[in-house]
Amino acid sequence: MTEQRLVLRHCGLIDPGDIATWCARGGFHGLERARELVSTQVVEVVKQSGLRGRGGAGFPVGLKWDMASKAPGSEKYVLCNADEGEPGTFKDRYILEHDPFTLIEGIAIACYAVGARSAYIYVRNEYHHLLDGLRQALRQAQRTRDLGCRIEVWEGAGAYVCGEESALMESLEGRRGEPRFRPPFPPAQGLWGKPTIIDNVETLMNIPQILAQGAAWFSGLGTEQSKGTKVFSVSGDVQRPGVYELIMGTPLRELVEELSGATSVKMVQVGGASGRVVPAARLDTPLAFETVLGAGSIIVYNDTRDALDVSLQTMEFFVEECCGKCTPCREGTLVMTETLERIQRGQGREQDLSNLLDLAETMGLTSLCGLGQAASNCFVDTLQHFGEEYRGRLGAF
Ligand SMILES: Cc1cc2nc3c(=O)[nH]c(=O)nc-3n(C[C@H](O)[C@H](O)[C@H](O)COP(=O)(O)O)c2cc1C
Repeated sequence: MTEQRLVLRHCGLIDPGDIATWCARGGFHGLERARELVSTQVVEVVKQSGLRGRGGAGFPVGLKWDMASKAPGSEKYVLCNADEGEPGTFKDRYILEHDPFTLIEGIAIACYAVGARSAYIYVRNEYHHLLDGLRQALRQAQRTRDLGCRIEVWEGAGAYVCGEESALMESLEGRRGEPRFRPPFPPAQGLWGKPTIIDNVETLMNIPQILAQGAAWFSGLGTEQSKGTKVFSVSGDVQRPGVYELIMGTPLRELVEELSGATSVKMVQVGGASGRVVPAARLDTPLAFETVLGAGSIIVYNDTRDALDVSLQTMEFFVEECCGKCTPCREGTLVMTETLERIQRGQGREQDLSNLLDLAETMGLTSLCGLGQAASNCFVDTLQHFGEEYRGRLGAF
């Protein structure tokens, strides 16, 4: 099993502090190709490629760009989401550290396509150490080429919810990071009420190569609904944690066992704390949007781990990071945490489990953003696959 490094093709082979080393490997080729086309043609190429967002939701990128490009108004924005707060996710950090230039090129192409003159890279507070390098890369890129847009780096204050696109815009506008009610959606009314596209770091990294090599080349890779490659960050009970890039559709087993060296796997959290839990019996599941994917965080648990403990630990993260704006998430994450703690102490009842499932459904249907909607995924999945571990901890009533 070998990796297919397309997004990461320059990583480790260029000096991220010297743009000349990147230009020597074909840097700016995608931007040049984009400028040979009119902006609507660039949007069409991205649409035809079948590229879907890599930040977790998998929304078709070309569709989003199309909506923003057609939205009325001359002031538009491109936002690069480098908040990367999902537990176990560190692929965007790897990209920012090793190849900031391709990201800048992707942003410049996005600006050209939708007609934006301003872009922001929203970087999570915990990546403070990357800011100088990123700003240096931006200065070098601006000196080397006319990017056609102004790109600024923006440092978040350190909240998971600020990775959610509407909370990210609130934060950029100087307010407390809380999700907005939608509609309107960002391509119609985003940053400062103007048409805006928000794309994940990895999503934008795909753009230059799609322009350079063509939509047909890209859409020929991967599965029916998941084109191209995916970058994964693997952690947990593995011998070789790290960042790996694979063709979409590769079985989970190849990533965790062959590449990362996991043994005695009990379960894998695919997509981080908000992702789905895949038990060892289903390790042959292909990694793709049509099955299980998320933002690319792969956390492996071996057979010494307890499902209830993992579920409680995950819920503790959400109760801490919940912004408090909507009731289902604010109250739901708290009740879930307290109930799981009670079960862990041996004071739970069978009825608690069905109450938790009802609560999970309500939170999924009524929470304002993906945080509350996905917070109970780990509980629901671990209860389904390892129900006996929960029941074994219930008290004798
Ligand atoms: C609570 C929460 C946190 C999120 N965090 C991130 C993040 O750190 N990075 C990211 O790209 N998307 C994150 N997202 C998804 C964004 O809302 C949005 O879908 C994404 O930035 C769109 O880019 P894409 O289409 O390229 O994936 C988060 C969503 C939620 C609900």
